[in-house]
Amino acid sequence: MKILAFAGSNSSKSINKDLVAYTTTLFKGDTVELLDLNDFEMPLFSSDRAAVDGIHPMALDFAQKIDESDLLIISLAEHNGSYSVAFKNIFDWVSRIQNRKAFGNKPILLMSTSPGGRGGATVLEAAKGTFPYFGGEIHETFVLPNFYENFDPSKGIVNEKLKLELQNKTQSVKTKILEDSLLVNPN
Ligand SMILES: Cc1cc2nc3c(=O)[nH]c(=O)nc-3n(C[C@H](O)[C@H](O)[C@H](O)COP(=O)(O)O)c2cc1C
Repeated sequence: MKILAFAGSNSSKSINKDLVAYTTTLFKGDTVELLDLNDFEMPLFSSDRAAVDGIHPMALDFAQKIDESDLLIISLAEHNGSYSVAFKNIFDWVSRIQNRKAFGNKPILLMSTSPGGRGGATVLEAAKGTFPYFGGEIHETFVLPNFYENFDPSKGIVNEKLKLELQNKTQSVKTKILEDSLLVNPN
């Protein structure tokens, strides 16, 4: 299985990227590409710009990576209760590509974390409600609250209950993808 993973953040110290990187280690034997949104920094999306210049090539590149993957692992940073500008800009550009949906009808393991007690649950809920309209098939969601208490850079999640929750959810994502692929290719 080919996994495309990224954090909805452009911070060089992104805690969401730490969570995404840790989560990919739970998918042993799969191919993982971990993207950094800084490598897809485009001008601010504007309808005028898109009309004159077309879709930015980086958005086309990003969409192609989504289309070539079997699973998206995304952890969203919460900025003022919503998406970071870095994530929203890419989302807007990619959503304007003709004849495809932004998330390419791919399964998603959707997560969020923040230093606070809600762990970015507000942005996660917003995404949970809207991603399905943009071709995002959310298989599981996971919130890691109080990042600095619950995550150790060398060990990963150190809160046993939350660690088990994520392990169970990654297992359920794997099982669902396997079942879906058997439905498509029964042999
Ligand atoms: C502009 C801005 C707004 C923020 N708003 C929120 C917020 O609404 N809720 C929250 O839990 N944390 C908020 N934070 C704190 C972020 O959760 C924290 O910076 C976190 O590290 C962001 O994730 P990242 O490290 O992956 O970029 C905000 C941070 C910034 C810079």
